[in-house]
Amino acid sequence: MPKDTNDQTGPRHVAIIMDGNGRWAQQRNRPRLVGHHAGARRVKEIVRACPDVGVKYLTIFAFSTENWKRTQSEVSGLMRLFRRYIEREARDLLAEGVRVRFIGDRDRLDRKLVSLMDSLELLTSHNEKVHLTIALNYGGRDEVTRAAKRLAYEIEQGRLTHKDVDAETLGRFLDTHFLPDPDLVIRTSGEARISNFLLWQSAYAEYEFIDTLWPDFTAAEFARVLSGYGVRERRFGAVPA
Ligand code: FPP
Repeated sequence: MPKDTNDQTGPRHVAIIMDGNGRWAQQRNRPRLVGHHAGARRVKEIVRACPDVGVKYLTIFAFSTENWKRTQSEVSGLMRLFRRYIEREARDLLAEGVRVRFIGDRDRLDRKLVSLMDSLELLTSHNEKVHLTIALNYGGRDEVTRAAKRLAYEIEQGRLTHKDVDAETLGRFLDTHFLPDPDLVIRTSGEARISNFLLWQSAYAEYEFIDTLWPDFTAAEFARVLSGYGVRERRFGAVPA
């Protein structure tokens, strides 16, 4: 897990729960998928804004382990949207210096999508301007459970012992092992819940719950939300000096 060594005042790693696509579409009497497509256009805008606002790592919640409970047509529409996003955006992401990685359990995703995800990760693996992590079939409890299972297997095989198990070791088995912890988690659409997103990693993160629906969340609003971050004091459990 890379250490966050920056001394900037703004957040370096921002994680976003992109909520409100369905309501945005409903307000316009359009199918929910229209909201998801509008949401995908915002993803592009927000990723592009990151270098200007000092965000090096952006992690976005695209599909949760619970989202399979939605209607079959919404789920398959979202999966089509993810495939299309990767196919259409790969060139721009590469040219704009964005390194894309995915977190979540790939086993339940269709093979064509997983192969596109693998290719995009490989294609952008030398980029380092912005690190975009897309959580797809991701759930915090599921991630910790999978990590614990892999850790138990290493112990079973004799490569580790129970004495090696601490927070640092467990962190190396998480999907996010390549990321610093998020400094700020933003959730749009007025809901004040974490919904199983980065449970372990957000132990000391700041949270911003804002009313705007995701498809209306502009780069200007993103910059405004981030500017509020610098004025807070993060203590990580300690007493201020
Ligand atoms: C939650 O809003 C949003 C989702 C479950 C999907 C998020 C997906 C996108 C923004 C599409 C683009 C993503 C990528 C990576 C291209 P909701 O549908 O639950 O909204 P509601 O609460 O108003 O119903």
